[in-house]
Amino acid sequence: MSDDTLLEPLDGRLLRDVFGCFATGVTVVTSIGEDDKPVGLVVNSFSSVSLDPPQILWSIGLNSPSRDAFCKHEGFAVNIMGAESKDETMRFCTPSDDKFADVDWWAGHYGVPVLRSALATLECRTEQRIISGDHEIFIGRVLRVDHQDVAPLLFHRGKFAQLGALA
Ligand SMILES: Cc1cc2nc3c(=O)[nH]c(=O)nc-3n(C[C@H](O)[C@H](O)[C@H](O)COP(=O)(O)O)c2cc1C
Repeated sequence: MSDDTLLEPLDGRLLRDVFGCFATGVTVVTSIGEDDKPVGLVVNSFSSVSLDPPQILWSIGLNSPSRDAFCKHEGFAVNIMGAESKDETMRFCTPSDDKFADVDWWAGHYGVPVLRSALATLECRTEQRIISGDHEIFIGRVLRVDHQDVAPLLFHRGKFAQLGALA
């Protein structure tokens, strides 16, 4: 095994910049809080895990105000956002009591918010939670899915983007 104590500690800014080189889609992950209020946050740590059984994962910062709701409620929805919904998406990346004002959603399985503007949705049941470093990873069983044919919203190097020419 290599001895990583001999390496210089990683610079936090550099690490963020390197993570940001990985272009991703953008999701809003939603659930219901204890007071029956909808909760949601922008997430790009989403990834597919397994087809059979159908599973996905995402992670949330340990200090995120919304985390408690996701730990207590068994259901959540992953809303994959389209390029046209950038303004709506941005409502979900800063802490607020009012993120859902003017957002069109319906109550899906478990009553969790499913956003009508999303290009695809995955309604899930939490199967496993794993704390690792400063985040908690949620692994969910996918119960119901839907999608529509619109262009995705992307995130790259700290900025929202749209698909250009395909490679
Ligand atoms: C593109 C993008 C991706 C993000 N991905 C995540 C993520 O995967 N996990 C996370 O905890 N926060 C992520 N965030 C930050 C949260 O959206 C932000 O901290 C939000 O305020 C958390 O909601 P809360 O304050 O209600 O807990 C991301 C932000 C942006 C702009």
